[in-house]
Amino acid sequence: MELLLRLLAAHVILLALSYSFVYCYDPSPLQDFCVAANETNRVFVNGKVCKDPKSVTANDFSYSGLNIPGNTTSFMGSNVTTVNVNKIPGLNTLGVSFARLDFAREGLIPPHIHPRASEILMVTKGTLLVGFVSSNQDNNRLFSKVLRTGDVFVFPIGLIHFQMNIGRTRAVAFAGFGSQNPGTITIADAVFGSSPSIPREVLAKAFQLEANLVRFLQIVYGPALWS
Ligand SMILES: *[C@@H]1O[C@H](CO)[C@@H](O)[C@H](O)[C@H]1NC(C)=O
Ligand SMILES: *[C@@H]1O[C@H](CO)[C@@H](O)[C@H](O)[C@H]1NC(C)=O
Ligand SMILES: *[C@@H]1O[C@H](CO)[C@@H](O)[C@H](O)[C@H]1NC(C)=O
Repeated sequence: MELLLRLLAAHVILLALSYSFVYCYDPSPLQDFCVAANETNRVFVNGKVCKDPKSVTANDFSYSGLNIPGNTTSFMGSNVTTVNVNKIPGLNTLGVSFARLDFAREGLIPPHIHPRASEILMVTKGTLLVGFVSSNQDNNRLFSKVLRTGDVFVFPIGLIHFQMNIGRTRAVAFAGFGSQNPGTITIADAVFGSSPSIPREVLAKAFQLEANLVRFLQIVYGPALWS
């Protein structure tokens, strides 16, 4: 009986510890706001230093220009305009941010991950095919849907997802994120375009590809092509 109680107590302590640990990457603001100060030469572990509250104005919480479409002439035919803490300093510590997504016809935001945030997206024009894939432990199931104007879809934090314009017009969507700076990892860019490159034999074996095909993909996604 005593052993059981001890185990229970240890479990509760562990739970409490893991809870506070999880909490430290999306902190409670602890005050009304902590507007990010423009200091470029510091190391920021989590968020930024706060501006003196007395010098904070409404502009620190504002951004203009999301009415303007992004330029979708890139190869993927899409463009993401992010509005995160780097554009709105007042977002610092608040755990939210925003983006506008533009798609040319057949435009694609290729499979990618936001390591720090879930995403909630609404289509305001056109038709998107969207989806995310669950983890290995959930058998990598695809959750996918066709969205039209006014439709909303959620992409859970850390899962691979994509959005593609399958309509006859351009498409527009807006998205909210549960982080001031959700981050993006585009799978193909990270895997085939890292610098330096992941050794070719690793990618050939991992993706079961001929070495020449790996070389081709490394040229397509390699940093050299875009820089
Ligand atoms: C922040 O500092 C950088 C570098 O000094 C400067 O280029 C930029 O214009 C500043 N931004 C604001 C909003 O003051
Ligand atoms: C997205 O659109 C903006 C504004 O038109 C443009 O400056 C930027 O280069 C575009 N990004 C890409 C990746 O095409
Ligand atoms: C979009 O970007 C392309 C290539 O960078 C450029 O040629 C074109 O003029 C831009 N379009 C607009 C509307 O800015």
